Amino acid sequence: MNYEISTAQTDEFLDVAALDRIAWPNMNDTFIPDGEHIWRVWCDHATLLVAKVTDREPFSETHEVAGALVMFPSQNGELFLHKIMVHPVCRGKGVGTALMKTALSGAKVPVLLTVDPDNAPAVALYEQFGFRSRERIDGYYRPHEDRLIMEFLPATAS
Ligand SMILES: CC(C)(COP(=O)(O)OP(=O)(O)OC[C@H]1O[C@@H](n2cnc3c(N)ncnc32)[C@H](O)[C@@H]1OP(=O)(O)O)[C@@H](O)C(=O)NCCC(=O)NCCS
Repeated sequence: MNYEISTAQTDEFLDVAALDRIAWPNMNDTFIPDGEHIWRVWCDHATLLVAKVTDREPFSETHEVAGALVMFPSQNGELFLHKIMVHPVCRGKGVGTALMKTALSGAKVPVLLTVDPDNAPAVALYEQFGFRSRERIDGYYRPHEDRLIMEFLPATAS
């Protein structure tokens, strides 16, 4: 599989929303995907990266979305990495790594994210990039949805 990382174009927000509906493991309870409207907003006003396949495998069409990452500035001057997801048939091929590398390459301020502590693939990916656990908040979303708050400090961050 060959792919390239780019900034999502406005007309791709529905493709990313569709990926969000299938990319997540059904851990503990039914996952609630983000709505199509917010993906449109992120497309225009956040950093929304997509990994698009450039050959026919594993999809039937080229330029289908194999993965996506969304990140935006937070109120306290940090960046918040809200979501990274890779299509189930495209995992283990470096797509998540490529998205993270692109997202973090220009980061000059701390990057925060939350992750399910039981999501071993995601925690391992983040740790590979130097994210460290800042805090654990039980019941962060719904009562059974605990989250680790992880942070990445770029070399230039004060
Ligand atoms: C987490 C996710 C984005 C990783 O994407 P990916 O393209 O498969 O990742 P890569 O192939 O680039 O692998 C990068 C690293 O992630 C970790 N990783 C990936 N899959 C893993 C698995 N099944 N088990 C353990 N670690 C895993 C490893 O550290 C791996 O590095 P390595 O190959 O040197 O061991 C993907 O599994 C996914 O979309 N999961 C569902 C959505 C999700 O949980 N998103 C993050 C939530 S905050």
